Amino acid sequence: MKSAFDFPVGAAVVKELLEKPEYANTVSKHFSRIGSESDFKWGSVHPSKDKYTFAKADAVVAFAQKHNMKVHAHTLLWAHDGNEPKWVKEFQGDAAAWEQLMKDHIYTVVKHFKGKVQSWDVVNEPIKEGGVYTNSIWYRKLGKDYIIKAFKFAQEADPQAKLFLNDYGQEYGGKKMKELLNIVDEAKKQGVKIHGMGFQLHTVLRMEAKPIMTNLKLAADKGLLIHISEFDISVKYGMPATFQLSDAMNKAQGEKYKEIVSGYMKVVPKSQQWGITTWGVSDKTSYFNKGYPNSDHDYPLLFDRNYQPKEAFYGFLNAG
Ligand code: XIL
Repeated sequence: MKSAFDFPVGAAVVKELLEKPEYANTVSKHFSRIGSESDFKWGSVHPSKDKYTFAKADAVVAFAQKHNMKVHAHTLLWAHDGNEPKWVKEFQGDAAAWEQLMKDHIYTVVKHFKGKVQSWDVVNEPIKEGGVYTNSIWYRKLGKDYIIKAFKFAQEADPQAKLFLNDYGQEYGGKKMKELLNIVDEAKKQGVKIHGMGFQLHTVLRMEAKPIMTNLKLAADKGLLIHISEFDISVKYGMPATFQLSDAMNKAQGEKYKEIVSGYMKVVPKSQQWGITTWGVSDKTSYFNKGYPNSDHDYPLLFDRNYQPKEAFYGFLNAG
């Protein structure tokens, strides 16, 4: 898979799963970049005020180095309310103290991985549908400029790293996309560089792919690097309870993977293709199946529950 593309093909992994040979072998064989579903998040690396715990994220980075892969790390700030550890939520202080807290976190984490992580999702999910700011603790304490400040701190901590604004649903345009692009412009005005936009693309088989291309292009036209950052295609989402996976659905999923990957290659100029990352490896441990580990809940990824390549895999591959 990885040699079929000029851009990195990534997988977001889970540190513990890398300890399983069939999982690890699939990752190293097919992917050229690695990320992690949660091992770089605040709660994982910074569980209390003066304590940083990098063991898990370090293990992900070590795996990448061993297999000559790049690393895209996710994420410094997750705007979605409720994702910070309790100690952050209970932190007391004025705006300056909150800014310092954010700065300390970003400086420490980014510097720890300097030279080992090529790119970061600096802020994840800052905007909601309708272009409204996610009511996160950072937004409440620092206003909307917390986003630009976070980018500034990340840039200071590692001037070489490529920095991404990551969100979901903006691939369908509207006010959400518009506001994300406004943030990029506003940052530029303030002398802060947002290098790229991450489109999560947790998508659904019955959704149309065409509008996605329009919006990838819109962001690419701004000169941004474009990363499809959490790619998967749910087969089951929105289907009746009687749903059963069929060969036809498997095939259709393969075609949709192909359509989206080839569309990306067509509308995003080569020099702006930061790559495509799938959110997980096998359906067995997909985020969509969290809480349903042994059931036939959903089938969003490239490899089946036995790590065999699916139509989805060949669809992706044949786009190359
Ligand atoms: C998810 C992980 O996949 C889960 O394992 C974890 O329990 C919660 O977070 N969008 C994002 C990711 O940006 O951070 C989320 O990851 C999935 C949705």
